[in-house]
Amino acid sequence: TGLITLDDGYGNTGSCESAITFIDGEKGILRYRGVPIEDLAARSSFIETAELLIFGSLPDKEQRDEFRDLLTENSSLHRDMRKHFDGFPVNAHPMSILSSMINALQSYEPHQEFDDEAGFRRAAASLLAKTRTIAAASYKSHLGQPVTYPRYDLPYAENFLHMMFSVPYRDYEATPEVAHALNMFLVLHGDHEQNCSTSTVRMVASSQANLFASVSAGVNALWGRLHGGANMAVIEMLERINEGDLTAAEYVAKVKDKSSDVKLMGFGHRVYRNFDPRAKILKEAADSLLDSMHVTDPLLDIAREVEQIALADDYFTSRRLYPNVDFYSGIILRAIGIPKDMFTVLFGIGRTPGWIAHWKEVHDNPGQRIYRPRQIYTGEPLSEWVPQGERP
Ligand code: CMC
Repeated sequence: TGLITLDDGYGNTGSCESAITFIDGEKGILRYRGVPIEDLAARSSFIETAELLIFGSLPDKEQRDEFRDLLTENSSLHRDMRKHFDGFPVNAHPMSILSSMINALQSYEPHQEFDDEAGFRRAAASLLAKTRTIAAASYKSHLGQPVTYPRYDLPYAENFLHMMFSVPYRDYEATPEVAHALNMFLVLHGDHEQNCSTSTVRMVASSQANLFASVSAGVNALWGRLHGGANMAVIEMLERINEGDLTAAEYVAKVKDKSSDVKLMGFGHRVYRNFDPRAKILKEAADSLLDSMHVTDPLLDIAREVEQIALADDYFTSRRLYPNVDFYSGIILRAIGIPKDMFTVLFGIGRTPGWIAHWKEVHDNPGQRIYRPRQIYTGEPLSEWVPQGERP
């Protein structure tokens, strides 16, 4: 093992070559296939962005229409898949439902062949459409309400809100501001190169596992609080401060006290060292969404206060810790009416195009080697096998 160097957390390892997403962490630049995130967030729909990520270029009208039809055709779950929802306890976390159901999709869609372009387009559309349907259905089962079926005339974000919030005889109609905010949230989560969940998808894909199995593994990686679970953890942190448990300043002081093991959730990033461009966009979007809805949220004021305290503190500036994508996104989801245990699912819906694009890159790479990192062994060099009665 003399030749192997330890790179804790892969902070310095280029694990693959990829043409999908570019990040410059010093300058706060993020581009999907070369297109700046700011332009996509302001002007692109989530599905157009997904096509850019997955297929490599912005779609022309014909490609866009064809993909829309594929999404529509594939948006409903196989009737027997609904039985799975009954198998989960009512308070099951929607992330566990999402990953299990995505994994199960392969059994219901064994005909999916990925080897030709048309087959892959169908599988990609099916996964994008069904992730949304599964997410909304898991919420409905949690409430004990009947599942709302997708509508065929609505764009992606509006259709998700329809499936989440419509009840029998009362269809939910999203305002343009709400639909725009959710669409932007999804675009901003589309891809982020070799983050934990995407690297997981590539790792699983490298053994030639199928698309659904690989993406299901990505959902599980996303669930943790240091990754996608951070958006829910941020709201819980802000709620704690709001409930008067601790002031914002006391919370920050606790974070700085290393013995407490408390982190400032929604702060810090492995790659961004000056600012996260997604956080900047989301902060403004949270402001304008709340304005347009004529609502105030005490948690937004607390978030601003926490940010201000942290950015004036040497602990954070010397470590180059700034708000990340998860810091303000929960305020937007809350304003839309999405409960906090669905936040990470929303991140997962947004990240699905990236996972699909990375799966495809691995799948299409001729001679792709299986991912297989090495380790530095720290155990006993040699131990003796001792009979049970003589063990210490
Ligand atoms: N609060 C307090 N201290 C922090 C934080 C934080 N949020 N983030 C990093 N640090 C400290 C860390 O303790 C270390 O201090 P020291 O040098 O004294 O040991 C120093 O800053 C360097 O951090 P690191 O642990 O090397 O950072 P990392 O690149 O391994 O971890 C991170 C990145 C995002 C996991 C981490 O910053 C973190 O835990 N943040 C809070 C959770 C969070 O918001 N996650 C969402 C990330 S963005 C979207 C996504 O990927 O899902």
